[in-house]
Amino acid sequence: MKLRFLTSAVALTAMLLAGPVAAEPILIKFSHVVAENTPKGQMANKFRDLVAERLAGKVEVKVFPNSQLFGDNKVLEAMLLGDVQMAAPSLSKFSRYTNSLQLFDLPFLFNDIAAVDKFQNSAAGQKMLNSMRKKGIVGLGYLHNGMKQLSASSPLRTPADASGLKFRIMTSDVLAAQFEAVNATPLKKPFSEVFTLLQTKAIDGQENTYSNIYSKKFYEIQPYITESNHGLLDYMVVTSAEFWMDLPEDLKGEVKKALDEAIAFGNQVAMKKSIEDKQKIVDSKRSEIITLTPAERAQWVEVMKPVWKKFEKEIGADLVDAAYNSNK
Ligand code: LMR
Repeated sequence: MKLRFLTSAVALTAMLLAGPVAAEPILIKFSHVVAENTPKGQMANKFRDLVAERLAGKVEVKVFPNSQLFGDNKVLEAMLLGDVQMAAPSLSKFSRYTNSLQLFDLPFLFNDIAAVDKFQNSAAGQKMLNSMRKKGIVGLGYLHNGMKQLSASSPLRTPADASGLKFRIMTSDVLAAQFEAVNATPLKKPFSEVFTLLQTKAIDGQENTYSNIYSKKFYEIQPYITESNHGLLDYMVVTSAEFWMDLPEDLKGEVKKALDEAIAFGNQVAMKKSIEDKQKIVDSKRSEIITLTPAERAQWVEVMKPVWKKFEKEIGADLVDAAYNSNK
C-alpha cells in the first residue's frame, strides 16, 4: 500500500515537473493515387507546406501519393471511416455517392479548361460541391488536371480503329457507354493497375491526360497517343462532413484558405504540365502523337455524343445545358 502511494507520488511529481502536456496537432491524412510530380501531387504537397507554415503545432497534413495508403476504390470509404481526412478523386469516381457529377464525364462536353472553369465557378457548379453532403462527403473545391487523350497499342484515327479493343476506364458508367459507343470493351480498373494491364496486354488502351501518361510511363508501353481532347479529367477535393464539422472554426478558416491557395497553384501546374509533359513524350520518341483532322475528330464526336441522351435524366438536363453553354 505504502509502495503504491509512493509510486503514484513520484509519477505525479514527474508530471508536474514536465509541465502541461502539449496537445497533439490535428492530423489530416491526404491520400491520392497519382505521382507527386502531377497537378494533384503538387497541390497536395503545397497544401501540406502552407499548413505547416501557418498552423504549426495545431494542424499537420501528411500526404500519401501513388495509392500508397488507399487506391481509388477504397479511399472514400476510408475517409468516411476516419482513416484518412482528405482525398481528391477524379470526378469520375464519385458515382456511388451522386449521379450529378457524371456530368463531367460526358464526351465532348467542354471545349477547353476555360469553359470548365466558367461552369465550375457558376452557381450550378458550386452547388455540386455539396451534392454528397447527405452521404457524409463535403466538397471543398475543384482541381484541374486537363483534357484526356486516348493511348493505344495501335493507331486510332477514327472510331472504327477502336472497335474490338479493350480500354481501361475509371469507375464511371458514362465512360463505359462512351467506349461501347465505338464498339470497344471498357474495363473498370484502379489507376494503380493500369501500367501492368497495358504491359501484359490485358488491355489495348486507356484514356488519360498527358501528365498521367507521362508520370506513370504509359507512353513507354503505348506506341500511339491520339490527341482527342474528348473528355475532362478534373478532381474534387473532399473531406468527411464529420471531420469538417469537428474542426474548430478558426482552424477551419485557415485550412480552407491554405487549400484554396494550393488549388490555385495546382491549376497553374496543370496548365504547364499539359504542354510540358506532352513535349517530354514527343522528345522521348517512344510514342507517336496522332493529331486528328477536323473530319476525323467529327467522327468521334458523332458516335460518342449520343451518350449524353442516355444519362441526361440521371444527371439533370438543366445541368447538361448549363455546362454546355459555358463554352460560349
Ligand atoms: C485515373 O484513374 O485514370 C486518374 O483519375 C487518376 C488520377 O487521379 O488522376
